[in-house]
Amino acid sequence: MKEVRCAIVGFGGIARAHAAGYRVLAEEGAPIRLVAVCDVDPKKFSGELKINVDTGKGALPADCKTYTSVEEMLEGTEFDMADICLPTFLHKEYAIKLMKAGKHVLSEKPMALSYADCCEMLEAAKATGRRLMIGQCLRFNAAYSFLKDCCEDGRYGKLYRLSMERLSPLPTWGFENWFQSTERSGGCLTDMHIHDVDMVRYLLGEPKAASTLAWDGTMKWQFENTRLVYDDGIAVINGSWDEAPGIPFKATCRARFERAEVLLEGGKVTVYPVGGESFEAELPATNHMAEEIRYLAGLITDPTAENAKNPPESAAATIRLIEVLRESADNGAKLIAL
Ligand SMILES: NC(=O)c1ccc[n+]([C@@H]2O[C@H](COP(=O)([O-])OP(=O)(O)OC[C@H]3O[C@@H](n4cnc5c(N)ncnc54)[C@H](O)[C@@H]3O)[C@@H](O)[C@H]2O)c1
Repeated sequence: MKEVRCAIVGFGGIARAHAAGYRVLAEEGAPIRLVAVCDVDPKKFSGELKINVDTGKGALPADCKTYTSVEEMLEGTEFDMADICLPTFLHKEYAIKLMKAGKHVLSEKPMALSYADCCEMLEAAKATGRRLMIGQCLRFNAAYSFLKDCCEDGRYGKLYRLSMERLSPLPTWGFENWFQSTERSGGCLTDMHIHDVDMVRYLLGEPKAASTLAWDGTMKWQFENTRLVYDDGIAVINGSWDEAPGIPFKATCRARFERAEVLLEGGKVTVYPVGGESFEAELPATNHMAEEIRYLAGLITDPTAENAKNPPESAAATIRLIEVLRESADNGAKLIAL
């Protein structure tokens, strides 16, 4: 495989997890290399930045170039793939700019703040012929991949109920406090709850109705309970950016199949077969950011390959569903038929 040269745009909190992913790939000798990074704030290139999840050791490779603007980086370094880790309100503008500059794009979730913006990104990908993928990283996480495999091979029968939660204190590390602006982040519902909403769609497909009860704190949609309704199943999800400062981040998922319940917690998967002994599932020791980057690099080197796992159209459809959930939340948790 030809080497894929990558450049990170925005070296804040989550970019460190991406840098750690590139390091995993370099250590195993994959033909994927982080060649440049840009951030408007050069202080970000050195020093730690603590966020609500473990980002691993994200130090930059010694030969990685640093820039303080995308324009300088485009002039100064040749690269194939831009890895956009900017605040959400900048995703559309920079994804389109970079595709027009001839780069393939990996852009962090959420794809954009509105479905209309997502459609513009999809159109730009089509017009430029560049690959576009959104960092719905749970699709590359070993624990959630185990669940997906259970759904596909039917080993425990049909999945009919999901209970999920993803709880965090309000993010305070962001550039200009962008997380705390509803207009810039879309609140917890658009930013963090989206991980679980997207995962439910990935596992169960499109719901036939949806509803969200939300609590607005210092910003809109800061704590929410979502119900996604299927003909023969249901998913209930809690999301919070209202946990007390200092309390640990928590993400869990319980998936009830006809013949077992599967519990995802703390990076482990435990299976509780009906009428059998519980056991811990063996998971590959993979880094989900490395897997996400590897997947897109594979699509870049093989232009005929289909992005079956994480197409941008699906990320856009998740934003369309988030818009429905925001409408429901603003209307007293109204159940909206889809
Ligand atoms: N996949 C995940 O689990 C996950 C986790 C956290 C955040 N995210 C997403 O990643 C994105 C970034 O989040 P974050 O926590 O890293 O935010 P952040 O504010 O810590 O980082 C953004 C960085 O972009 C830089 N920046 C701002 N404008 C710029 C510009 N015009 N050019 C270059 N650099 C610029 C800022 O200086 C900052 O360092 C968001 O969309 C967020 O939702 C994803």
